Amino acid sequence: MSQNTIPDGSAQPSDAVHSGPPVTVNRYGPLQRLNHWITATSLILLALSGLALFTPALFFLTGLFGGGQNTRLLHPWIGVVLFVSFFIFFFQLWRANLPERTDVVWVKRIGDVVAGHEERLPELGKYNAGQKFIFWGMTGLILVLIASGILIWDQYFGEATPIDVRRVAVLVHSIAAVLIICIFILHVYAAFWTRGTLSAMTRGTVTGGWAWRHHRKWLRQLVGRRRIDPAK
Ligand code: HEM
Repeated sequence: MSQNTIPDGSAQPSDAVHSGPPVTVNRYGPLQRLNHWITATSLILLALSGLALFTPALFFLTGLFGGGQNTRLLHPWIGVVLFVSFFIFFFQLWRANLPERTDVVWVKRIGDVVAGHEERLPELGKYNAGQKFIFWGMTGLILVLIASGILIWDQYFGEATPIDVRRVAVLVHSIAAVLIICIFILHVYAAFWTRGTLSAMTRGTVTGGWAWRHHRKWLRQLVGRRRIDPAK
């Protein structure tokens, strides 16, 4: 199949197919995986330190960061790490996450997705509508979190921010944090629920069967590009 038959490609330059057995498909390179796990670790640390500062009921979590003062000091800096790390990842993936017509069909047939009847759905590119929702949701919320976080970062910007603005920023920051924790749970659940997905972020590869079942258009694009290594 020639590449021209699949115009709106989501396949990225480093994606590739290795003929089997078993057939494996490159999904993320080592730097992308490192980038992802730095992002993941910083979000987990932010959630723990943020919840510790959010309510006295969870203040005991400050013990993980060396006490209350250290938690308050570290939380914003970990936020900066998350912001930088996520956006390095973002600029590599945003094109493959652009909405397509098939996303609407995927959402309408979510029942078939959940029931595992993916043969009733159109062939998908590198990401499905659920993954795209998570991607753009995380993007928007991280922007809101960094912007509202800077406004309430007392050590550097406290003086410059009027109290009314700070009150609103605290509220916005907390709501965005709760939402991103929900999206994070959804993301991790989906990664475990769709069997064979986790290896994309551990080894960087998925099986040919996984790609055929879940992201057939993407697989066809790679095969069409002739990015196939001979069996080793
Ligand atoms: C322990 C927690 C996490 C696990 C187990 C996990 C697992 C995974 C896996 C398996 C993939 C590959 C999915 C695929 O290519 O089909 C992935 C992709 C991705 N992950 Fe995570 N992840 C975690 C945390 C996070 C966090 C905290 C963020 C961001 C704040 C994040 C952002 C992303 C993004 C942006 C992608 C690419 C998917 C896309 O572009 O739509 N992940 N993750």
